Amino acid sequence: PIRTQLTGCGAYLPERIVTNADLAHVIDTSDDWIRQRTGICERRVAAEGEMTSDIALHAAQAALENAGRQATDIDLIVLATSTPDETFPATATRVQHALGITRGAAFDVQAVCSGFVYGLAVADNFIRCGQANRALVIGAETYSRILDWQDRTTCVLFGDGGGAVVLERGEGEGDKADTGILSTHIYSDGRHHDALYVDGGPSSTQTTGHLRMQGREVFRHAVTNMAEAIDAALAHNKVAESEIDWLVPHQANSRIIEAMARKLSMPMERVIMTVDRHANTSSASIPLALNEGMQDGRIGKGDLVLMEAMGGGFTWGSALVRL
Ligand code: ACO
Repeated sequence: PIRTQLTGCGAYLPERIVTNADLAHVIDTSDDWIRQRTGICERRVAAEGEMTSDIALHAAQAALENAGRQATDIDLIVLATSTPDETFPATATRVQHALGITRGAAFDVQAVCSGFVYGLAVADNFIRCGQANRALVIGAETYSRILDWQDRTTCVLFGDGGGAVVLERGEGEGDKADTGILSTHIYSDGRHHDALYVDGGPSSTQTTGHLRMQGREVFRHAVTNMAEAIDAALAHNKVAESEIDWLVPHQANSRIIEAMARKLSMPMERVIMTVDRHANTSSASIPLALNEGMQDGRIGKGDLVLMEAMGGGFTWGSALVRL
């Protein structure tokens, strides 16, 4: 059948690596504490002047090359980010311009750590409705700019980076007939605002603000919420847990990821893990992980890939894709 096909993937990480030991020099923390609670060993931090749009552009170019497409083939750019270059215009329009595209539409989607899954849902619906033919869905972030570097309970958890995919309307090729985005399920519940938010913005404080989080509260909801999104994906597609080849989860914390894998009875060998090296890159974490799995040959054509995420809002969701 005609579906939205995922035809390319790319990613970009800023050069600078900040290790847990580096952080322990400036705040009261330790490599041991961070590793044991989160699985994080190091993260990337954007260079001075390096913006979300720069990171998004590199990731988009890599995805286009991987798909064998020109920028001018693209008629929709959906950029998932909660760290835009400016309050407006959408960072997506900067990326569009840098790619030399002057037609179609480019806009940002704001769903925090669930942003990439939301972006996939938006682009998939545009493509299946016939309103777009080829889309770039990008997740790119510079969380280093909204962290309170004095707050050890949050600043050790996040990193900068970006990833992107090319989506195209079409019939899949390959040995497994029914390829493409099989389903997306997205959810939100604003009652949980206070568990994870940024204490600033144009309309409230006229400042950018800093990330604030009640870690335990987020943890408590993460597994239940993502399990809901996964169950919806499996039921909708009449797919059994055992049929999933790869879990590509949002990378917030290795303990949350391990809990999701246990829930799906999946061995950790079939879960893509990058949180140890990237930390939590919010909307960028899924495409960064997907790219790693595809580039190193673990994830291949015909594989059934389950993505899931949860973030501030709360927002959460899943996407099931046959490559
Ligand atoms: N270094 C050393 N000690 C620390 C640090 C640190 N970086 N941060 C907190 N502590 C201390 C606390 O002050 C506390 O000390 P106390 O007992 O003397 O008061 C102690 O460690 C335990 O703190 P808790 O917050 O209870 O630790 P917890 O085991 O809950 O782990 C964590 C905290 C890692 C944040 C965990 O709750 C978590 O992973 N939550 C999920 C949050 C998350 O992943 N959010 C990402 C955004 S949403 C998403 O993407 C899913």
